[in-house]
Amino acid sequence: MSTETGRSAAALIDFAASALRAVGVGDEHARTTADSLVDADARGTHSHGLMRLPFYIAAIEEGGINPTPRLRWVSERAAAGVLEADGALGQVAMATAVDGVAARAEEFGVGAVCVQGSTHYGAGAYWTDRLASRGLLSFLTSTTGPVVAPYGGSEKVLGTDPLTLSAPGADGHPLTADLATSSGAYGKILAARNEGRPIPADWAVDAQGRPTTDPSEALAGSLTAFGGHKGSAVAVLLEAFAASLSHGAYSHEIRSIWNSPRSRMNTAHTVIALDAEAFTGRRHTEEKVARLRDTIRGAGAAPVLAPGDPEQDRKESAASGVVLPGSTVEALQLLAERLDVPWPAGSR
Ligand SMILES: NC(=O)c1ccc[n+]([C@@H]2O[C@H](COP(=O)([O-])OP(=O)(O)OC[C@H]3O[C@@H](n4cnc5c(N)ncnc54)[C@H](O)[C@@H]3O)[C@@H](O)[C@H]2O)c1
Repeated sequence: MSTETGRSAAALIDFAASALRAVGVGDEHARTTADSLVDADARGTHSHGLMRLPFYIAAIEEGGINPTPRLRWVSERAAAGVLEADGALGQVAMATAVDGVAARAEEFGVGAVCVQGSTHYGAGAYWTDRLASRGLLSFLTSTTGPVVAPYGGSEKVLGTDPLTLSAPGADGHPLTADLATSSGAYGKILAARNEGRPIPADWAVDAQGRPTTDPSEALAGSLTAFGGHKGSAVAVLLEAFAASLSHGAYSHEIRSIWNSPRSRMNTAHTVIALDAEAFTGRRHTEEKVARLRDTIRGAGAAPVLAPGDPEQDRKESAASGVVLPGSTVEALQLLAERLDVPWPAGSR
C-alpha cells in the first residue's frame, strides 16, 4: 500500500473538522465526526477513516446529509428509546445514542436505543469502546446500502451489516469484536479499487454471479456474507435488530450516499448496553473478561491475538503519527484545495 508520512491525530482532526465546518456543520458535530474518522485511521481501519470524509462532504453539499439536524427522542419508555436523527451524520446521531443508552443502562441495568433517519457512523468499535470505558458491555449494529446477496441468492438485498460486541477489561482495554458481516468490508473494497489492488477471491461475485478478485467488478456485482449460510443468517437478523424497532430503513430500501450523494439514507442503528454493576459488579466482570482475553492470547505455541488486539496495537503505534493510505491523502489534498482549508504537513 502506498503511504504518506505520519501526521498528528490532533492536526488531522482539526483538518477534518474545518472541512466539515466549511460546508455548514456546527463545531461540536464537526469535531465528533472528525474524531471518529481519525480514530479509525489510527487503529488501521482505514476503510472507515478519513477516506470517507470526501463522501460525507459531497453528501452534505448535495443534500443527502443534513449538516444542521434536530435530533429528538420520538419514543421513550424506561430502558428503551428511539432517536430520530433528522438526516444527521451517523457520528452525530451515535454520540447522542451512546449517551442515551449509557444513561439507561446505568439506571436500569440494561439500555437499548434504536436510531432512525441516520447515515453512516464509521467504525463501530469507536462507539462500543466508549461504553466499555463506562463499565458497560455492548452490542451495536446498523443497516447500510444494499451490497450483499443472501446465501443462495443473487440480488443485493443485505447491507454489510456491521456487528460490534465489546466487553470492558480490567486494564482499561476492552475485548472488542468489530466486523462487517460481508466477507470483506465495503470500504476495504473501495480502498482496493482506489489503490489498484485485487481482493480475495471469496469476497464477491461479478454482475454475472462469477467469483471475482477485481474490486470494480465486485462493486458492480455483489458481495458475499462471511461464513457461508451461517454468516448470511446472522446478517439477516442484524437487519431485523437494526431496523424493525424504528422507522429506519432496511438496507434494501436504502440508496447510499456513496453512489448517490443526494439520497437521504434513513439508516437504522441499534445499540444495547448492559451495566456490569447491575449484575456481579464492574470489577468482577472486568477481571473475568481480562482472564478470557489472557486465555485466548495463550492458546497457541505462538502468541494468539484476542479480538481488538490488532487495532489496539496499531493505535499505540500511531501515537507518534497517523499514517494514511496514499490514495486517501490525494483525495484529502484535493478536498482541502477545493474547500480552501489548510492540509496538515507530514510530521516526519
Ligand atoms: N458503519 C457501517 O455502516 C459499517 C458497515 C460495515 C463495517 N463497518 C466497520 O468496518 C470495520 C472493518 O470491518 P472488517 O470486517 O473489515 O474488520 P476486520 O476483518 O479487520 O476485523 C474483524 C475483527 O477481527 C479481529 N481480528 C482481526 N485479525 C485478528 C486476528 N489475527 N486474531 C484475532 N482477531 C482478529 C479484529 O480485532 C476485529 O474485531 C469495522 O470497524 C466495522 O464497524 C461499518
